[in-house]
Amino acid sequence: MKYKQEFAKILFEVLDQEIHVKDLEVIIEKPKNQQHGDLAFPCFTLAKLKRKSPTIIAQELSGKIKSPTIEKVEVVGAYINIFLNKKIVSEDTVADIIHQQEKYGALDIGNNRPVTIDLSSPNIAKPFSMGHLRSTVIGNSLAFIVEKCGYKPIRINHIGDWGTQFGKLITAYKLWGEAEKVKQNPIKELLTLYVKFHDEAERDPSLVEQGRNWFKKLEDGDEEAATLWQWFRDESLKEFSRIYELMNVQFDSYAGEAFYNDKMDTVVKLLEEKQLLVESDQAQVVELLDEELPPCLIKKSDGATLYATRDLAAALYRKGIYDFDLSLYVVGNEQSLHFKQLIAVLEKMGYGWASKMVHIPFGMMLKDGKKMSTRKGKVVLLEEVLNESIAMARHNIEEKNPNLTNKNTVARQVGVGAVMFHDLKNFRMNDIEFSLEEMLRFEGETGPYVQYTYARACSILRKANWKPEDTVQTTSPSWEKEWKVVSLLTEFTNAIKRAYEQFDPSQIAKYIVDLAQAFNKYYGEVKILEDGLKQQARLALVYSVTVVLKEGLRLLGIEAPEEM
Ligand code: ARG
Repeated sequence: MKYKQEFAKILFEVLDQEIHVKDLEVIIEKPKNQQHGDLAFPCFTLAKLKRKSPTIIAQELSGKIKSPTIEKVEVVGAYINIFLNKKIVSEDTVADIIHQQEKYGALDIGNNRPVTIDLSSPNIAKPFSMGHLRSTVIGNSLAFIVEKCGYKPIRINHIGDWGTQFGKLITAYKLWGEAEKVKQNPIKELLTLYVKFHDEAERDPSLVEQGRNWFKKLEDGDEEAATLWQWFRDESLKEFSRIYELMNVQFDSYAGEAFYNDKMDTVVKLLEEKQLLVESDQAQVVELLDEELPPCLIKKSDGATLYATRDLAAALYRKGIYDFDLSLYVVGNEQSLHFKQLIAVLEKMGYGWASKMVHIPFGMMLKDGKKMSTRKGKVVLLEEVLNESIAMARHNIEEKNPNLTNKNTVARQVGVGAVMFHDLKNFRMNDIEFSLEEMLRFEGETGPYVQYTYARACSILRKANWKPEDTVQTTSPSWEKEWKVVSLLTEFTNAIKRAYEQFDPSQIAKYIVDLAQAFNKYYGEVKILEDGLKQQARLALVYSVTVVLKEGLRLLGIEAPEEM
């Protein structure tokens, strides 16, 4: 990034300041094959501007490009390829990393402005699904990424704790529930009751009526209904927190759907004032004809509000108290229409900031090519998945490093990290095939592979008893063998920028896999600890790699054990 900017500045001068530096920067490419140079400038855009052949322009310009950081300039067709001075760039980059530590790679785009991130948001009395896992992992990573870009992230867990289903659940509990059973295994038991309700309701339609009544009572503040609801909510959140604790995920707010109950009238009133509410089939809706969307349902015929109404209230509330610059919703692809409608309604209400709301969808988690469903008893309990992964990681440790201290902590970091990395390494819209064996491999593109590389680099530094404070670079290597690793280190900021621009953590995941691979290759070729003269400079490079790997993992929400 730094050197791209520098190259752009040089071109700016060479071109008599005709084209803006920022525009030049956009044109500069990184050659796919490093043998063609470290950076390349294609002259096609200039050709249009100057009405000259791009190859001639390349020839003319290339002679004028001079800078200590540039070792060689080559022209291939319309491309000006430059080779950076390995010694200068390497020593400079290592010095930057040692100086900036975990701040290395940061961008100052955000000016500390708030970004709300709606993530995780499971539904109470239901198991934490794979979709909620994806939302948690992707949203958590995006929070770290926007923070790295200078924003202030606000993580909001928009718990699904309101809706007609709770009337049904209360009905089912009153008919068939046992307090003891619920206490022992809350979510499982509540789910069983809920499923039973639907089965029985097929035979006895009066149950549906009872469910509606209980929900009405709940909405009207009936004490019995409220107490049961509160209990179901508390028990569910207890279970969810165990999962969050395993994953080391924290939230700034747990304001869920129920939180907006008393804020709903305002929304409905606002919509009325703005003459946006119309009656349709006895329900109140906002028509979205111009937007070519189906109408957004605001109020049912019995006066009950809906998911969308609560999201409208939530958006207004969040704008009011956080004054967000950007508002991200990390929610599965199947809710795309809902978010289109939500944003469209807010735009119709005249709120310009609605354009700052972004739905960040993601694909499904598959098992043997099919959707992993939580319905109909086929429950895949996420906590079990995590615990199984941790157990497998623990087993690996027992085999590979039985003398490790704090085995349990490391097993958790590796087991959970494996699940998270597996989720984040592909572009979020792709469906993911679920496989624990795949996740926990120590080779290939996995979390444990990156963590292991980090631990290995840490162990070299430990053996050499090397500390960043005592960097004295006596004799430096030629930086020839180091070059691949160094040039990747200079790319960290770019990866972060791409991840931010596309709201795509996989940019970081792929980047740290590349860095880990390059480092392992280097480690195989060079005897770092044996080569006396060059040792100091090389250890400084190893240290730089540890800083960037650890920070890269952190941006994904994954911990980096120093030994494993
Ligand atoms: N609870 C919802 C579900 O599980 C997700 C909520 C997403 N956030 C939102 N503001 N609508 O489908």
